[in-house]
Amino acid sequence: MSATYLTTSDVPGRRAQAAAVIAGLGTCLPTTEIDNDALSRDLDTSDAWIRTRTGVEARRRVDPQTSMRDLACAAGANALRSAGVNTADGLILATSTPDRPCPAGAPEVASRIGLGQVAAFDMAAVCSGFVYAVASAAGLITSGMLDSVLVVAAETYSRIVDPADRGTAVLFGDGAGAVLLRRGTVDEQGALLAFDLGSEGADADLIHIPGVAEQPTGERWFRMSGRKVYIQAIDRLAGSALRVTKDCGWGPEDIDAFVPHQANARIIDAVGDRLGLTPGAAVSNVARLANTASASIPLALADGVRSGQLKPGARTVLTAFGGGLTWGSIALTWPATTPVGSEI
Ligand code: COA
Repeated sequence: MSATYLTTSDVPGRRAQAAAVIAGLGTCLPTTEIDNDALSRDLDTSDAWIRTRTGVEARRRVDPQTSMRDLACAAGANALRSAGVNTADGLILATSTPDRPCPAGAPEVASRIGLGQVAAFDMAAVCSGFVYAVASAAGLITSGMLDSVLVVAAETYSRIVDPADRGTAVLFGDGAGAVLLRRGTVDEQGALLAFDLGSEGADADLIHIPGVAEQPTGERWFRMSGRKVYIQAIDRLAGSALRVTKDCGWGPEDIDAFVPHQANARIIDAVGDRLGLTPGAAVSNVARLANTASASIPLALADGVRSGQLKPGARTVLTAFGGGLTWGSIALTWPATTPVGSEI
């Protein structure tokens, strides 16, 4: 890991500009862990195949009584606790597994965690949802519209993957993560410095759940063209990460901590190689938690702090890719934040 970290003067022209700053980090995981052997009992797969092709060893799964909103409330409340506050001016909930199609879950999550009648809406960008939501929250904050925004990402993929489809059933897990963002300046640790967002709707069918109009009577499971997604994921993640890195005036060797969407260990390794990252810079918890879609980056952030990869001041790049297709990256310096986690 590089020994130098971002200081006030490292980003020319940005000093004292308003920025959204990470003030707290929270997570929530279901207690039930499903390992590869357990999946292999009902599916034509094996621990060896799953480990070799994906790096996944286990994933968490919610019990029937737990909703996506329950996970979101716990992670959001934990982020407030981590920041030492009990209010926020708005809430954005990133999810691709809503408990019900209407209404959005964000207002109920905001109400249940005691935020009152704040601005609250959902962000639907699948596995890029956290990055899209954080970028949107940063826009609300730096424009002066809101002083703080709680961004929550929560997913229950165990409810949408077809248990009989070995190409997807082994890949995903349930969980939630959240960050509290507040208004600050670019020279503070925790400041979000550069953003990149993109989409390619021509490839929308590569990751989808058929809608009522497309499949009026049939089952509506999550479907993915794994190999095509795999190839795009490496190109999109690396390209997007490189754009925010350059925008900050950093080179790949300046990235102290790289926190990518946790889709597959082979994708994370390939993107790291493509970027020319310093060995040990990439944070990965895909072995333990599998792909938790939009929740994967905040869950990886918490694990990165615990493993010592994310230290205060570390030049950090987050990068995500998912259905839509969508992708996005954020460059920031890491704050002196202690994550608060819980299980449900
Ligand atoms: N167990 C055993 N065999 C499996 C399997 C499983 N769980 N899943 C697929 N296979 C088989 C396929 O049926 C295929 O068999 P065939 O050659 O006889 O047809 C073979 O393994 C290879 O399939 P392929 O899809 O080419 O494998 P792959 O190396 O691309 O790995 C993924 C499959 C899904 C792990 C990989 O494509 C991937 O990670 N894709 C991206 C997923 C992702 O990132 N999604 C989220 C984006 S946000």
